[in-house]
Amino acid sequence: MLILGIESSCDETGVGLVHASTTEPPRLLAHALHSQIDLHEAYGGVVPELASRDHIRRVVPLARQVMKESGYGLKDISYLAVTQGPGLAGALLVGSGFAAGLSAALGKPMIGIHHLEGHLLSPFLSQDPPQFPFVALLVSGGHTQLMLVERVGSYELLGETVDDAAGEAFDKSAKLMGLGYPGGPLLSQLAQGGDAQRFAIPRPLMHDKTLDFSFAGLKTSVRTHVEKLQSAHEFTDEVRRDMAASVQAAIVEVLCRKSIDALKRTNTHRLVVAGGVGANRLLRDSLVQAAHRINAKVHFPELELCTDNGAMIALAAAMRYQAGLVKVDELAPAQRFSVQPRWPLYEANTATPR
Ligand code: KG4
Ligand code: ZN
Repeated sequence: MLILGIESSCDETGVGLVHASTTEPPRLLAHALHSQIDLHEAYGGVVPELASRDHIRRVVPLARQVMKESGYGLKDISYLAVTQGPGLAGALLVGSGFAAGLSAALGKPMIGIHHLEGHLLSPFLSQDPPQFPFVALLVSGGHTQLMLVERVGSYELLGETVDDAAGEAFDKSAKLMGLGYPGGPLLSQLAQGGDAQRFAIPRPLMHDKTLDFSFAGLKTSVRTHVEKLQSAHEFTDEVRRDMAASVQAAIVEVLCRKSIDALKRTNTHRLVVAGGVGANRLLRDSLVQAAHRINAKVHFPELELCTDNGAMIALAAAMRYQAGLVKVDELAPAQRFSVQPRWPLYEANTATPR
């Protein structure tokens, strides 16, 4: 069974083709991605209308490329899977419109997938896939959540950010420090060799009893430091490097601490890290070390599947099929489609996506 996955929820257009069966683990046959970073860079963030227009330009050539690389034809596709939400409404509509059109033309069914389900299952395409149950740390530009995952379609929220997401904390701090967009990778690059002790950056809610996060205070602290240093003409390259290191250390320490707490509280020994911030080297190393101390193991998606992509959407559909949550034989080709820009993951649990 072949599943074509399409992702267009934010600033990346992704298409992936996955082989699924009820007996073997899903296999990625081909995937292609186009990132809109260059397009949005000048604006310092994602411009929704530009994002939608670019998805329209990219999705067909990317799908052609994936089919060509896989060696299969469109008629071999068993069904389509598309990110139905959460995300930017206009951007989601592009992927869904394309998938629905293809579904009707091919006479094959289409299902909607929750973007975060794609992220948290993405390590199943890695060399060292996890086993259920596990705790998932989802860290992206829009989300910071800890979930308990018992099996496919069973997602229990353990804690989440009460304000900014971890990726947002990286991006906003980077912006205040005069770095480009997206700030996460640039800030962590600058942080190399910096003195992480030099600036006292707050670690909100770190000792709080809940597994919730708060990162909004971080940018206020960065702003205060930057303004003071700039007015004293002391915001030198070395100072910036130390500030980058201090900010990164604060975010990573909080994420690490809460993830370990979540493992302990749920008596779980596997942690899955997914989402763009999961590419951060310090976070990866710190989590591996901390987990090792409590006999737990950390699983990451392959680096190229950390950011948004179509492969994880096809994978989630494949795993839903394998778990019996999707009955492809009972589904008709799409006659209509809808998107869900706001959609909590727990609502997508075992419900068959529409
Ligand atoms: O999952 P993602 O690609 O998109 C969504 O938000 O869904 O995550 C993007 C976020 C951005 O905030 C970006 O700055 C952050 O991931 N990011 C990083 C790194 N690479 C990407 N943050 C810290 N260190 C990195 N190496
Ligand atoms: Zn994402």
